[in-house]
Amino acid sequence: MKRLSIIVILFILPAAFLASCEQPAGGNKALQARVDSLQSKLDSAYVPGTGEIMNGIVQPHHYKLWLAGQQQNWKLAEYERHQLSGGFKRIRKYHKNTPEAAALAMIYPEMDALEKAIKQKDAAAFKNHFALLTNTCNTCHQATKYEFNVITVPSAPNFDNQRF
Ligand code: HEC
Repeated sequence: MKRLSIIVILFILPAAFLASCEQPAGGNKALQARVDSLQSKLDSAYVPGTGEIMNGIVQPHHYKLWLAGQQQNWKLAEYERHQLSGGFKRIRKYHKNTPEAAALAMIYPEMDALEKAIKQKDAAAFKNHFALLTNTCNTCHQATKYEFNVITVPSAPNFDNQRF
């Protein structure tokens, strides 16, 4: 009986284990083809560039945030602030290990201060922190060697087809 147990442990169990690891015929090939196809999809997946995110998300929502805040339209202002923060989130997500991702932390204190000003419907604090936010846009442009991209606090409404 003892001998039988030893035989089972030494020979039969390992053999059964190895058999269970074996792929069905062609399994490895099919799996590799699937991995290759997913990899090629991944390689051609669209990734928005930092310039695109700045131009398409950050700049317009910075502008609209200002317009809404000027009108003390706080609900819209919070919406625009949230959209603006989406631009920065995309930098963090799609541009890891870049100078801009490393510099991103500088923008959060002013984004938070604006959130607070909006929540408290504080027009003076909004104005103050919007100016500081805009300075920080430029500080980051300097830090990332795009200092020639100079952002200003808007001076005139621009979006004629939306009510603020
Ligand atoms: C984390 C750093 C960083 C912060 C913060 C930042 N930017 Fe940028 N921005 C960049 C970089 C880097 C570029 C150049 C990207 C490129 O061309 O690839 C850029 C480019 C731009 C451009 C030029 C896009 C174009 O095509 O003309 C605009 C406009 C812009 N940023 C607006 C803003 C505004 C508005 C803010 C603040 C609300 C801001 N940025 C905050 C890093 C930053």
